[in-house]
Amino acid sequence: MRDVIIACDFSSKKETLQFLNHFQDCRPYVKIGMELFYAEGPDIVRELKQRGHRIFLDLKLHDIPNTVRKTMSVLSQLDIDMTNLHAAGTIDMMKAALEGLTKTNGQRPLLLAVTQLTSTSEERMQKELLINANINDTITHYATNAKIAGLDGVVCSPLEAKLVKDRCGNDFITVTPGVRFADSDTADQVRITTPAKAREIGTDYIVVGRPITMAANPLDAYQRCCDEFI
Ligand code: C5P
Repeated sequence: MRDVIIACDFSSKKETLQFLNHFQDCRPYVKIGMELFYAEGPDIVRELKQRGHRIFLDLKLHDIPNTVRKTMSVLSQLDIDMTNLHAAGTIDMMKAALEGLTKTNGQRPLLLAVTQLTSTSEERMQKELLINANINDTITHYATNAKIAGLDGVVCSPLEAKLVKDRCGNDFITVTPGVRFADSDTADQVRITTPAKAREIGTDYIVVGRPITMAANPLDAYQRCCDEFI
């Protein structure tokens, strides 16, 4: 169940394929985010899928339920393995997303909710968004809403993963960015953890970008992540 997802934060297909060529016959689980998807369109998803990668399509949808239902229905044709939306869109929006994502044969990719972005501080959430609660309560409440809507889990920071599991149950999936090796540069990530610590916390998937994409030997860095985490 546990797996390492590589964040392919590139702005072109060329760069992405050059990077993935380091992996030879190995086909890691990859994350395609807004940057690459908006640059290359759905063809990049088809191409990576055809090469044998599992795909987390990280587009974080947030719109009225009807629009999200119809958009998820289009995305479900891409044969992705995981996708996401903002829990702030309400339970109705999340239910509509699930309906749209489910194919006529009943199959669908995993659907996760973003609770509060890790870039949102408690202070800004309270002052700018007028959410009069502490951030951990907000995160666990949004995770509970996602569970009520029938979603599979949430994207959250490693520290929140334990809170979410305690509230929503161990089967409720947590996908966790902010991972760094103990001896590597943290860059702009603040609430970080090592792959080994993420395993200890009990998260299901770690999303790792620069520690692998910027490594002198990406395949070695990926294997080190897998050795520590899986
Ligand atoms: O390079 P790095 O390992 O920091 O990349 C982490 C990936 O996870 C990036 O694609 C980033 O956009 C994503 N992410 C994150 N924090 C969140 C949600 C997504 O770092 N709260």
